[in-house]
Amino acid sequence: MRMVDLIAKKRDGKELTKEEIDFMIDGYTKEEIPDYQMSAMAMALYFQGMTTDERVHLTMAMVESGDQVDLSDIHGIKVDKHSTGGVGDTTTLILAPLVASVGVPVAKMSGRGLGHTGGTIDKLESIEGFQVELTGDQFNKLVNEQNVAVVGQSGNLTPADKKLYGLRDVTATVNSIPLIASSIMSKKIAAGADAIVLDVKTGSGAFMAELEDAKALAKAMVDIGNGAGRETIAVISDMNQPLGFAVGNALEVKEAIETLQGKGPEDLEELCLTLGSQMVYLAKKASSIDEAREKLKDAIHSGKAIEKLKTFVSSQGGDASVIDHPEHLPQATYVTEVKVNTPGIVHHISADEIGIAASMLGAGRLTKDSQIDLAVGVVLQKKLGDEVKAGDTLVTIHSNQQNVKEVEDKIVQAYQIANQAYKNQSLIYDIIK
Ligand code: URA
Ligand code: CA
Repeated sequence: MRMVDLIAKKRDGKELTKEEIDFMIDGYTKEEIPDYQMSAMAMALYFQGMTTDERVHLTMAMVESGDQVDLSDIHGIKVDKHSTGGVGDTTTLILAPLVASVGVPVAKMSGRGLGHTGGTIDKLESIEGFQVELTGDQFNKLVNEQNVAVVGQSGNLTPADKKLYGLRDVTATVNSIPLIASSIMSKKIAAGADAIVLDVKTGSGAFMAELEDAKALAKAMVDIGNGAGRETIAVISDMNQPLGFAVGNALEVKEAIETLQGKGPEDLEELCLTLGSQMVYLAKKASSIDEAREKLKDAIHSGKAIEKLKTFVSSQGGDASVIDHPEHLPQATYVTEVKVNTPGIVHHISADEIGIAASMLGAGRLTKDSQIDLAVGVVLQKKLGDEVKAGDTLVTIHSNQQNVKEVEDKIVQAYQIANQAYKNQSLIYDIIK
């Protein structure tokens, strides 16, 4: 087989076979196929698109390019959850103990934050002592005993995706639905899940700003998951404003605790119940979505969910006293209130700009190696549709530097306040299976 023939075949709009895709990905991983040929292929794929079979073959070839997590020692149906990335998205911290408390095994590998989005592993590290590195045996044992464990990424997972993503980034071929879908799904499948619940974000703070694009991406990922024998469901949710109120590591841990106690922000709780009920249903711990949802609501109101958070934290070495005493979490030195200048109704919040504001305080990383400050971040006091008067507090800034003028300006710019009625947006747009 010759790569040049495969490029020509795709350029002319023909379908590649499994053998051809395996040859290409295997050769590219081993550096037998050079970047320039793979670049030409990426561009051909970008323009010609890919059939569902091609997408499944590409995904599986990338899965097989490196290590795969073996969760077969863990009893039950392992359901993973993945978000395409949002601001203030604390759902994993809530969902892991929540669904575990109703009997779903959660064996989760999570990432760190980069740029303006946060990562679950950083958030967990704001709890003193919490260990995000476990051996495979420790991890399996915890999931079998407690139904829940969360670890940082380790091992050589999907090296082909890593290389291809880097190449796409510099050849203007990132923005292709089949390539994005295969890239994300390869990582989920390599992480060992039996079933996958996807949270596909749409709106100003999301990768897919337009609803139609988010739906197409969701459908592409669901088709790949199902085609690869992993039952997959996608929820399309709103990212036209940060989720909940808090953006920043320790601040989001506090918000997750409150949500598990039934005192969290309404949008965050609703999204967790929606995603969680899909997870419980896929894990066959409920016979309908409605029953799953009732179980989760009961777990929150009976205190079962917050108890599970305590066991989860202490079994990974963390200081569980933070759950009853969130003031034990890292605290910032300065709290500054950003005030409203003009009265009206909040019409627009640039979620990504709010994420950048939190990053500027030190909550996010500029590069993979930067140190982050777990204590800092912002807490929104006003969200879309809220009426505001001059002098009201819009956002509180938690910082370890006294001068936060630049961050204040950024926040003021991220908000648009107008004197006209606001039509409430949905939180959940669609569920695709
Ligand atoms: N995220 C990924 O993991 N892959 C893509 O291709 C795009 C976003
Ligand atoms: Ca939040």
